[in-house]
Amino acid sequence: MAAEERIVAPALTEDDSGESRLRPRTLGEFPGQDRIKRNLEIAVEAARKRGEALDHLLFYGPPGLGKTTLANIIANETGVSIRVTSGPAIERPGDLAAILTNLQEHDILFIDEIHRLSRVVEEILYPAMEDFALDLVIGKGPGARSVRLSLPRFTLVGATTRYALVSAPLRDRFGSVFRLEFYDAETLAAILGRSASILGAEIHDDAALEIARRSRGTPRIANRLLRRVRDYAEVHGTGVLTLDAAQAALAMLDVDDLGLDDTDRAVIRCIIEKFEGGPVGLDTIAASISEEADTVMDVYEPFLLQCGFLQRTPRGRVATAGAYTHLGYETPRNTAAQQPGLWNPPAETPDGADE
Ligand SMILES: Nc1ncnc2c1ncn2[C@@H]1O[C@H](COP(=O)(O)OP(=O)(O)OP(=O)(O)O)[C@@H](O)[C@H]1O
Ligand SMILES: [Mg+2]
Repeated sequence: MAAEERIVAPALTEDDSGESRLRPRTLGEFPGQDRIKRNLEIAVEAARKRGEALDHLLFYGPPGLGKTTLANIIANETGVSIRVTSGPAIERPGDLAAILTNLQEHDILFIDEIHRLSRVVEEILYPAMEDFALDLVIGKGPGARSVRLSLPRFTLVGATTRYALVSAPLRDRFGSVFRLEFYDAETLAAILGRSASILGAEIHDDAALEIARRSRGTPRIANRLLRRVRDYAEVHGTGVLTLDAAQAALAMLDVDDLGLDDTDRAVIRCIIEKFEGGPVGLDTIAASISEEADTVMDVYEPFLLQCGFLQRTPRGRVATAGAYTHLGYETPRNTAAQQPGLWNPPAETPDGADE
C-alpha cells in the first residue's frame, strides 16, 4: 500500500488531507485528555493573571493524538502568536538564533519532533529557555569574545513521539511534561460527530461509535476513516453515514474489529510465524515486513502494546496469547507469551509507564 493511502501513517501534510479544518481551536472544542486540559486551564489562567508567559511545555505520545492541536490551542487561548518549526528543520545554531531573536514577548515557539534537534542547537536552547538569553561568540581565535543578548520571554512548546530520545538536560528545562493518551471510543465518537458536522455530513450515532471503536484510539485516524465512510455512503447509499455504510467501508479498507490494519497484522504475523512468538528485536521485525524501524516503533507498536498484543521484554518483542487468538492462530504452549514476569516497563518515561 502506498504511504499516502495508509490509514494509520501520520499525515504527510495537513492541508491535503483537510485536517486543518477539523482541528479544534479552543480547549472547549477539544474532547478527551482531561488531565492535560485541567492542567493547561490552570496554567493559562495563572499566566494571564500574572501577565507572564506560560512556562515551557512538552507534549509526547503517539502520532495523531493532538500534540500540534494543543500547541495551537494554547496560543489561541492566551492570545499570542505561535511560531512553528521542527527539530530537523533547525540545522545550525544560527537558524535557531534567528528564530529566537524574532520572537515577540510571550510568543509560543512550537518545536515539533524536538527529539531530533542536534546537540549544538540544543545548547543554544538551554540558556534561552532558562534565562531568556542568547550567548553569541563574536570573532575568532584569541580575540573572540562572548556576548549575551537578552531574548523576549517566550514559551517553548515541544512535541515528540519519542520521549526517550529527548535528552535529559532538555527535558529538565520544561516546566510541565504531558503524555497524551489514546482516546476511548465514546470520546472519539464525540470528535466524529463534530467533524461530520463541519464536513456537512449526517452521521448516525451507532455509525460514529463503530468508526470510533476501529480508530486505534486516535482522532486523526477517526477523521480519516470518517472521510472514507462518507465517500462510500455517497457512492453506495444516500450519503447518510449509517452503521451499514460504516461497516462496509471499513471492511473494504481491511480495518478489522479492533482497528488493526494490514501492517499491524503483518507485525504480529511476522513474530508468530517467523520467530515463534518472539522475543525478536524491533529492527528484525521491521526488516522482515519491509518497514522502517522508526515507523514500526512510532506508529504501530504503541497501539499493539495498548491492545495487549505485544509485549516489550529485555530481549525483544513478544506476541501475546491475545494476539494469537485475535489473528486466529492456535495459542502454543510454552511460548514466551505465556511466561509471566517477562515484561519490564522501560524506565525512560516519567511515570514509568510505557510509551
Ligand atoms: N481531542 C481532539 N479533538 C478533536 N480533534 C482532534 C483531537 N486531537 C486531535 N484531533 C484531530 O486529529 C488531527 C491530528 O492531531 P495533531 O496533528 O494535533 O496530532 P499530533 O499529536 O500533533 O500528531 P503527530 O505526532 O503526527 O504530529 C488534528 O487535525 C485534529 O483535527
Ligand atoms: Mg503534530
